[in-house]
Amino acid sequence: MKKFGVASKVIFCATLVGLGFSVCGAQETLRSLAEERGRYIGAILNSEWFNNSIESQFEEIHKTQFNAVVAENEMKFDATEPNKGQFSYNKGDRMVAYAKSNKMRVRGHALAWHSQVPGWVNNIRDKQQLLAVLKNHIDNVVGHWKGEVAEWDVVNEAINDDNNHGWRSNGSVWFQTIGAEFLDSAFVWAHAADPDAELCYNDYAIEWGLGQGSKAGFVVDQVKRWKQNNIPITCVGTQTHIEISHETTPQNVRALAKALAEYDVVLNITELDIGFPKGSANNLGASDYAKQGHLYRQFMDVFLEEPNMGEFMIWGVTDAHSWLDGQQGKTQGLIYDKQYKAKPAYDSLIASLKAHPASEVKSPYKSAATQDTTAQDTTTRDTTVRDTTVKDTTVKDTTAQDTTTRDTLTTPGPVVSDTGNVSIRRGTATLTDVRMNLVGRTLSIVGASNAKVQVFDMRGRPVYSAVTSKGSVDLSAISDGLYVVRVKVGSKTLERRVALR
Ligand code: G3I
Repeated sequence: MKKFGVASKVIFCATLVGLGFSVCGAQETLRSLAEERGRYIGAILNSEWFNNSIESQFEEIHKTQFNAVVAENEMKFDATEPNKGQFSYNKGDRMVAYAKSNKMRVRGHALAWHSQVPGWVNNIRDKQQLLAVLKNHIDNVVGHWKGEVAEWDVVNEAINDDNNHGWRSNGSVWFQTIGAEFLDSAFVWAHAADPDAELCYNDYAIEWGLGQGSKAGFVVDQVKRWKQNNIPITCVGTQTHIEISHETTPQNVRALAKALAEYDVVLNITELDIGFPKGSANNLGASDYAKQGHLYRQFMDVFLEEPNMGEFMIWGVTDAHSWLDGQQGKTQGLIYDKQYKAKPAYDSLIASLKAHPASEVKSPYKSAATQDTTAQDTTTRDTTVRDTTVKDTTVKDTTAQDTTTRDTLTTPGPVVSDTGNVSIRRGTATLTDVRMNLVGRTLSIVGASNAKVQVFDMRGRPVYSAVTSKGSVDLSAISDGLYVVRVKVGSKTLERRVALR
């Protein structure tokens, strides 16, 4: 069964000869096989592509073999907002146009990341100022590519490497200046800017298993908390930059996919490469490349067998252009060699795809049969919070914890528009003579006898509405979580983010 409507069984005899293919005629590609299975396989567009300094074979292979794309560096913070309020979209626009003309899905990488942040951001030490900067960045960047970027890495690499279930502090202006609430806010703001985009938490070393103290375990805990609080996360990205010796990682990815399925969250492989130690570069032989191919195949097997996996992204096309050699002490981790010849890893991926008939591969994407792959996917996942029994013991949203009476928001909290959609802007509660006070589940309105109280979840969906009786309302019917409370007195509105626990 052909699940995607894109015709990419390629008739490229002349072009493909010399690129690793010897057969002319209709050629099965990674892309055609993935599309038949309702899945995405992709690779980065390297910075060299953006700088027009890459061989012509690169693009030919890229658009033939892949149906998903991500920019290596060009949608990061320093690339898109190098100076405060001055946005630079040219390179990203070029990629989006390329994706559109080749019917590819676009991943956006990355909104809130401690690395590749421009100096003007790193110098900010004021929490409110930095929240406003992050919100403005997300509003603009996600808003600019609304409907064109199908999925964003909203937060990238925010967990520390200490195996202690903690957030990264060192080197992270976001955590140091804002605290952990920057993550929740980033997801809410990204959702507000493009409600149809898939929103991911992306990290490395989460392919190392769910053991005690593991990053993967922490991710699952956070996903649970985010879901409980209606924070609009829909996917996790496992970067999966691994080495040839990391033989258990495919099965660890399987375990992570299963754990995330409990929360209706998709797991995507976002940055795969399987490198050899750099020192071995001159001694690699057929058995080494076969081993590499075997590992690639195991990842593809897991990917196709787990129904909540959607994208299989490789962090490069050819060993001629890979971050590994320059920055990692690893080498030759991709599926094409430096001469653009397909390696055994390519054949292994093809073999895995063929071994999993389309009829048996489930897609996490709805209506994959006819979709234009550049369009947004509407997922089949429901967003119901499944388990509300476990209390959050890890991250406290400090804004939400504050239940004292006040008439202005101290952080740029979510504000719910009249249409019911959450739009996030700096809170400017306008009533100076009316206050709300939340004690337990009783919300009192001080200074107005007749007030309309509405409560919205973090996706902007109304969950409660009432008119005050004796100056207060009882919110005990609402499940635990983060909400926006709106109080209307006459034509004036007071809004606050609250945590109900
Ligand atoms: O922009 C300058 C350019 O002006 C200069 O000519 C050139 C000379 O070396 O350097 C350029 O900046 C480099 C940039 O890539 C663009 O080529 C940076 O020095 C270099 O550090 C940067 O490396 C990128 C790295 O992220 C930075 O963290 C890699 O290309 C990119 O592959 C890598 O990607 C990351 C993902 O975003 C997140 N996960 C890990 C992955 C691998 O590190």
